[in-house]
Amino acid sequence: MSQAEAKTKTPFWEQGNLAPVQEEVTAFDLPVEGAIPPELNGLYARNGANPREGHSGHWFLGDGMLHGVSLRDGRAEWYRNRWVRTPRFNGAPRTPGMPDIRSGVANTNVMAHAGKIMALVESALPVVMSRELDTVGSYDYDGKLDTPFTAHPKVCPTTGELHFFGYGFVPPFLTYHAVDAAGTLMRSIPVPVRAPTMVHDFAMTSGHVIFMDLPVVFDMPAAQRGTMPFAWSDSYGARLGILKRGAGIESLRWVEIEPCYVFHVANAFEEADGTIVVDVAWYNELWRGGPSGKTFDRAVLRRWRVPPGATKAQEQFLDDRSIEFPRINDDRAGLSHDIVYTVDTGNDGLTYELLRKYDLKTGKSTEHVFDNGMASEFVHVPGEGGKSEDDGWLIGFVYDRARNASDLLILDAQKIESKPVARIMLPARVPQGFHGNWMPGV
Ligand SMILES: [Fe+2]
Repeated sequence: MSQAEAKTKTPFWEQGNLAPVQEEVTAFDLPVEGAIPPELNGLYARNGANPREGHSGHWFLGDGMLHGVSLRDGRAEWYRNRWVRTPRFNGAPRTPGMPDIRSGVANTNVMAHAGKIMALVESALPVVMSRELDTVGSYDYDGKLDTPFTAHPKVCPTTGELHFFGYGFVPPFLTYHAVDAAGTLMRSIPVPVRAPTMVHDFAMTSGHVIFMDLPVVFDMPAAQRGTMPFAWSDSYGARLGILKRGAGIESLRWVEIEPCYVFHVANAFEEADGTIVVDVAWYNELWRGGPSGKTFDRAVLRRWRVPPGATKAQEQFLDDRSIEFPRINDDRAGLSHDIVYTVDTGNDGLTYELLRKYDLKTGKSTEHVFDNGMASEFVHVPGEGGKSEDDGWLIGFVYDRARNASDLLILDAQKIESKPVARIMLPARVPQGFHGNWMPGV
């Protein structure tokens, strides 16, 4: 087989910097160009799929691996990468047809809430991790949580509550949950939907949570191929379910939207008259005939507006350039935002050469281009006492092709086009992964 033939047969998630690494590395006192802001004390950690065997049926199905950098008093104290050692990673047998929520791949996100660092995937319970990224075990909120956990929970900056949902292949297909600031599961509410669909994210405002019931539905042929068990449906339709926070299911209302797929919500908020605004990374469609091993789709920034009493959302493109991994200043989660940080994904959906900051108030965007580099998601870290929404920094991993290793870059969020404030050079490659968070004080 020629090299070109081998490349076409190798799925995109096993090529270049998407390919997994096989070693767990620990390194202390990392070399730094520039200066790490001394007020950044804590842990930046990011999750991604990194199949232990080197192969998986889809990019989204590999074992989770966390990459973490501890920052302390202006130093890059350490870098560690560790697999999330779930029962499945450790070789537990799988029951055909029945996903085990205690034994997933925990590969999509990592966040801290109520004193726990949790690795997340949408098909299983959270997995608690130590600060040094060792696996503690799956967590079911003292026996109260009996559904999977989303990889995209929302922390309300006003109440400290954690809002999330779980979805599965048996009724109720979708369940909403809320945890208080101290980490106690307060309520779980089944949300009626017609069929099991892939629900990757949802939205939260100060008064509501919003579910996306989209036409990427459970698909047995895809499941039998060992890939993500979902495919596009021309008949399912698309709608948003808007539920009042703190109220029962009787407050749920459905609003029609154009058929589409959305993995990621940037943010949602409510205007003075009660209109709900949701900004998303929007795909025209996804996975017709099931997921493909060859290509990925492209998303653009789009806004849904739902006035009070409306049965159909107003829809508006905010830009036509391809983006993913939208993030905001999380202190604005559920509140109005002007700024969205994204990674440009290029026409193939996988190029990741630049970071783009949108100012939706002025309509302007600025970019940071990574010369010979490939960016992952960047997260915003608010500055101490910051007055404007974009005070602070952006932090994320960038693969440096010249070194065949990755850097953790810190950019000034107000001047993203400028030279990085700090470049922390890691001794290893961080494969393209999914999501992470800055955990201050951890
Ligand atoms: Fe995601």
